[in-house]
This record gives sequence, C-alpha cells and structure tokens, in this order.
Amino acid sequence: MERTDFGGNLRLSDVGREVVLCGWAANRRNLGSLLFIDLRDKSGYVQLVSDHPEDFPDVRNEYVIQAFGTVRKKDVPNPNLPTGEIEVYLHRLVVVNKAVNPPFIIADKTDALEDTRLQYRYLDLRRPALQKKLRVRAEIVKAWHEYFDANGFLEVETPILNLSSPEGARDYLVPSRLHHGCFYALPQSPQLWKQLLMVGGIERYYQVAKCFRDEDLRADRQPEFTQLDEEVSFMDMDQILALNEGFLAKAFKEVIGVDVQLPLRRMKYWDAMDIYGSDKPDTRYEILLRDLKSIMEKTSFEGFKGDCFVKGIVVPGVAHETSRKVLDELQAEARKFSLKGVMSLKYENGALSGSFLKFMDEATQKELAEFLGLKDDDLLLFASHESRRAIDFGMGALRTLYGKKLGLIKPNTYDLLWVVDFPMFDPVEGEPGRYTAEHHPFTRPRDEDLPLLDTKPEEVLAYAYDIIINGYEAGGGTLRIYDHDIQWKIFNLLGLSDEEVARKFGWFIDAFQYGAPPHGGIAFGLDRLAMIMSGTDNIRDVEAFPKNLQAADPMSHAPSTVDQEQLDAVGVKIVEE
Ligand code: AMO
Repeated sequence: MERTDFGGNLRLSDVGREVVLCGWAANRRNLGSLLFIDLRDKSGYVQLVSDHPEDFPDVRNEYVIQAFGTVRKKDVPNPNLPTGEIEVYLHRLVVVNKAVNPPFIIADKTDALEDTRLQYRYLDLRRPALQKKLRVRAEIVKAWHEYFDANGFLEVETPILNLSSPEGARDYLVPSRLHHGCFYALPQSPQLWKQLLMVGGIERYYQVAKCFRDEDLRADRQPEFTQLDEEVSFMDMDQILALNEGFLAKAFKEVIGVDVQLPLRRMKYWDAMDIYGSDKPDTRYEILLRDLKSIMEKTSFEGFKGDCFVKGIVVPGVAHETSRKVLDELQAEARKFSLKGVMSLKYENGALSGSFLKFMDEATQKELAEFLGLKDDDLLLFASHESRRAIDFGMGALRTLYGKKLGLIKPNTYDLLWVVDFPMFDPVEGEPGRYTAEHHPFTRPRDEDLPLLDTKPEEVLAYAYDIIINGYEAGGGTLRIYDHDIQWKIFNLLGLSDEEVARKFGWFIDAFQYGAPPHGGIAFGLDRLAMIMSGTDNIRDVEAFPKNLQAADPMSHAPSTVDQEQLDAVGVKIVEE
C-alpha cells in the first residue's frame, strides 16, 4: 500500500512535501467550511486539514484511512503535539476500512475500566501511551541481547513441558494424553535446565524465558511472565554482579537516557530488613525502622518484655491529622503482616501524648523522645513480635504506606542496589526445625558457613543476590551448588527424605557427579524492568495481552471449560465443587 511517511514523524523540515499517510482517524471535526482529522499511526498523531470538506468521504472515529496531501506550516502551532507546528493539507482521502463505534475513546487519558480495556485489548493497544511502554520493553530486550551477545553468551531454548517439582510456587499442570494420569508442569523458571547447560559445557547461556507460576496475583505479578535469564560458569559473585551491572547501565542509558553510577551499592539482607523493613528496600525516603526494645522493656507494658523484638517508625508532620480512624486503618494494614497491635504516640508542643503513656514513666518518655530526636507533629508507630522477620516486614509495610501517602518519593528517580548475604533458609513459623529455601534449593551456602548446616541452619548465609530498583525486586540470582552431596543435604534440610530426593531430583543431582563446573546466574523480571523504566506501577501495562487479577483473559475468556472428548483423551474427570 502506498505510504511515504509515518505521520507522527513529520516536522517543519517537511513543509512543502507531498506525502501519503496511512492510519486511523483518531478524531474528526467538520466545521462546515473546514474539516480536521487527526490521523494516528504507530508514530503518533498528525492533523489533516481541508477547506473543502464536501470533496471527501465521510470518516468516523477509528476508520482506517489513507491520506494524500501536502505538508504545510500551521498558523497557530499546537504545543502539545510533536507534529504541532505542521498540518497536512488534504488532496485525496481513501477510506480503507470502516469501524463501528469503539466501546471507549482511544486516547492516552482514559477512564475506561481495566477489564473493558483488556476485553478490547486490540483497541487499548492503539493508545500511544501503551505502545510506548511496549517499545520500552522491546528496547530492554534489544540492549540485553546486544550486551550478552558481545560477552559471548549463547541463546538456548529450554523445554516448556517439564517435570513438576513442587518447590516454590504452585505449578501450572498439563495432562498427558500418551501417559494417562501423568502431568507435565509449565516452567516456573528454566533453573534446572540452565544448570544442566553449564554441566553440558555451554559456559555462557542466556534466554528470553517465559515462566508460569500459579500464585496470588498483585500489581507486579502475572501468572505468565518473562525472565531475562542467564547462567555462567567459572565466575565468582563479584564478576557476575559486575557483568550484570554493565547491562543495567547500558539499558537505563539507551532506553530511557538515565545514567546509572557503577558499581551499584550492596546492602546486606539483615540490614535491609532491620532498617527498611523489606528485602526489597526503596531507599529514596528516610523513614527508617528504629529498634526500641531496650527502651520499651522499661515500660510496664507486658507485651514488650521478654523474648521479642520491638520496633518503630517516626512519620513526620502527620500527628495532627492522625485520627482514631486512621490508626484503625493502620492496624488493619499491619495485621496483613501478622502484627497484632500497633501502638502510637504523638509528639506535639514539645511533649509526647497518647494512651500508651500510662505505661511509661517520665524518664522513659524523655529517653524515647531524645533517642528518636522527635520533633513537633511527629507520629511514632511501634509494635512487637517474637519473630525478627515479622516485626521487620510489618513495620516495613507501614513505612511503605506512609512513603506513598506522603508523596516522599520523587518521580523519575531511580534507586538501584543489590541486596546480598541472604539467609539460606527461612524457618517455617510455628514449626521448629522446618525450613523453606529463602531463594531456591540450588543456592550455594557461603563456604565459611558450611559447618553450620549441621548445627545452626538458620544462621547459614548464601551466595544470593537480588537487584532492587525503586523498591521492586527486578531480578534475583545465586551461585549454585555444584557438589552432589551438598545438594542432597540441602534437600534433606528442606524436609525431603532420601527417597524423595532420589525420585524428584535424582536425575538432576546425578549430573553433578560428571564434572560440574562452578556456576551461577540471575534472572531479571523483564515485565518488572519494563514497568519501572516506563514509569507505571501496573505490570499489565507492559504486556500486550496480560491476564487480569483473577488470572483470566477477559478478551478470549481463557481459562475455559473444554469438551468432554478432550477430557477423556487425557483421562481427566472434573469433580464438581
Ligand atoms: P526468582 O523467582 O527470584 O528467581 O525470579 C526472578 C525474577 O522474576 C520476576 N518474577 C516475576 N515477575 C512477574 N510476575 C511474577 N509472578 C514473577 N515472579 C518472579 C522477578 C524476580 O526477581 N531461577 C531463579 C533465578 C536464578 O536464580 O537465576 C528465579 O526464577 O523480577
């Protein structure tokens, strides 16, 4: 089809040129003696104009059109459009295809419900803002390919139909027709395959990998998402982090023009937890967790005595507006993080106030105010818990709540850091001696901590690292175990019997007996990187066809029931709930 230009690219330098444009009629105004049509294509908008509307066919919104005309300077420029200094004077207009009235107006600003936008995603995708986000995503992948290709990495695809290994999240299962009663699992990540590629001598692997996890969804989680996945042999942790920082710096510069200072900061897991109340801290604002145990145990409040952690945060400038109702809302938020009760004190007119004061003598009040450096209108929130992780996560959640509420985060700022020195294991609350893997069971414990595996597993730290950007976990990786016996032992510590290890992971661990090189890797969450770099907090904005929060597709209506014949073929019987 004839087309000379993308309309959104036309500028003053094109004035006088004869152009042929293709696209959609985004907006049409017929003022009787004047006709204006905004033509939209993948490059943006340009205005078509004619002073003979009667010469042209009737055009409605979203008609597909081909326009022939001359570029001319606009008398009154439109500063809101990149093409605002010019317009295209129409000679001929062809209606290529008609369109019925769309269910919502296709413009960057829309008040259409998200489910409606997902139901008509092909219309939603016409919005330039969404196309821009998809472009950011594609450019990240391009930078990634360029960078790792230049570093000698080989792209290898790994299987989608896998053995189910019920560690981590819940698997998506696929019933097998040829093996009745058996199921494949969709990959939660290519973890085992990429390690076997290292045993296979590939040495430097990378892949844009589709991953599937059947877990509760959030604004930054999709059931089906994409990892920029890597694995490398014969590199230590410093080398892997330096390699990947190089990629991040390239991507931030080339995709959004932001300079990232290298090397990136590293923060130990327990510092992140104790100070920011999160293993993915957003360090762009200064509300910090404070350890109040030594002061609070001097009060007569029983809940702060004995074996527990007491922590607090000071929120500046809000005491005067913190009503009973606000405090009740905070309690509800904290309960989600297993904090049973959050106490509060205000600092007003140079003194503490609040019902908790009945538990504190004057000396303790003074000590508390001095320790925290309280100022007028400060609100102190504090709580206790017997678990260090629980108190940290709970107070961290309140910190995040206020960080957002008070607008403490400057827009368009980027805070990149590594969180390192993760514990190997996460104790299962209320079940002494039971653990889950903090990262995954293939993570290598620090060499110096190996003896602790037999005595104090909860104190073992691992060669694990997460890349945190603006409070999001944008990627994570580890050095791997490459010793058969240590890997076996880790599974035992995670509660698997020898028989279970052999049955579920024997095929994998056996490979370590045949000369496995030291190796490690990382996976970036492409969707999260694209979210952060395109300035949205909704992961669905950076996927062309995402699922909604119920893991469904409102357009195709997946998931759906299937024919009895299909069920019979794979030997699956549906049991009504
Ligand atoms: P992990 O489970 O930390 O590590 O995943 C790596 C990164 O993938 C992203 N991510 C998600 N993004 C969107 N929706 C989800 N449901 C989702 N789950 C995870 C996050 C996360 O940091 N095999 C290891 C990596 C390794 O050790 O090399 C793994 O999968 O950004």
